[in-house]
Amino acid sequence: MPVPAVNLKPCLDSTEPAWRAHLDDLFARSHFILGHHVRSLEAELAPAFQARHAITVGNGTAAIELSLRDAGITKPSQEVLTTALTAPFTGVAIATPGCRIRFADVDPDTLLLDPTDAANRATKRTAAIVPVHLYGQPVPLAPFRKLARECKAVLIQDACQAHGAQHNGKPLTAYGPYVCYSFYPTKNLGCLGDGGAIMTNSPAIAKRLLSRRDGGRRGGQIAYLPGINSRLDEMQACYLRAFLPHLDDWNNMRRRTAALYEEGLRDCPGVTLLRTSPESVRHLFVIRAQRRDRLRDHLTAHAIGTGIHYPAPLHLMPAFRDAGLRRGDLPHAERAVKEILSLPIYPYLPDSAAHEVIDAIRAYFK
Ligand SMILES: Cc1ncc(COP(=O)(O)O)c(C=O)c1O
Repeated sequence: MPVPAVNLKPCLDSTEPAWRAHLDDLFARSHFILGHHVRSLEAELAPAFQARHAITVGNGTAAIELSLRDAGITKPSQEVLTTALTAPFTGVAIATPGCRIRFADVDPDTLLLDPTDAANRATKRTAAIVPVHLYGQPVPLAPFRKLARECKAVLIQDACQAHGAQHNGKPLTAYGPYVCYSFYPTKNLGCLGDGGAIMTNSPAIAKRLLSRRDGGRRGGQIAYLPGINSRLDEMQACYLRAFLPHLDDWNNMRRRTAALYEEGLRDCPGVTLLRTSPESVRHLFVIRAQRRDRLRDHLTAHAIGTGIHYPAPLHLMPAFRDAGLRRGDLPHAERAVKEILSLPIYPYLPDSAAHEVIDAIRAYFK
């Protein structure tokens, strides 16, 4: 049986009555921007993510950009420190408001931003730190909170791959004022287009963000704050309201698949597993593999879909040349991108499919 890298159908099928009912209600209301379903979703998201406030926006990139703008980080004299191993959109979001992006290396065991390297690269111009909860696994937040305090910088968490994740038993909002999510369709909580949200415990930040995402308006046609146009649309809120009650179950299904992979590949020659914590929500299951590209071809020949997240570190991508780093400057991230391979993982992936993937990898390295 073919095993795709991702398959959204089972989640869509299992929630169809709920999203169809929301869509029927939406068409009856015929109010398509910032209406009943976005307001209801925001009221449902906040408790589900143990946040006081949830502000939905057009996508995860805008969630990070708006957080920076809201924190007043818009000038070239202000530096924003982040990881070199992330989706290019983390960098795009940081580059857009006008501040300067700076990269630090990753911990080779987890591939998460390394707090020690970040501290070494922080300067008196560091105005924000954007750690990324990559592959669903929260970064160690205590050292980043400490570093942010020392630098008088704001901590903006990129949680675009970590819906439902906690850190040391606490919600991510306990560690900093802005936690940013993407609802891109393949995320642990995704819609059927673009979408995103910012979670915060600060009523003042929430009030400003509600205005900034809507052109700085407050419901009328006067712009009070510098803003952008980045609103989640009602149709996406209909899907997200249907999916949200299943997030924990779906995350546990991902954890089950991840446990099978870890058990099946732990002693496989040629494969190195990342160090993960039980709090990871397993957005992606990433291994490091010898002869990665040939292994990938072998899996493709066996109708097994894979991905590479990501094929280059951001400091070596042409768009981020301004950060001033060259090949060799972030050795752990540079080495990792040649070895990483994302295996199929999604809710309702049959155990038999995970075993097929394991068997194919073991056969390759035999
Ligand atoms: C780590 C990370 N940051 C930011 C983003 C941007 O989210 P979006 O595609 O919704 O703009 C994504 C998703 O692509 C992501 O995975």
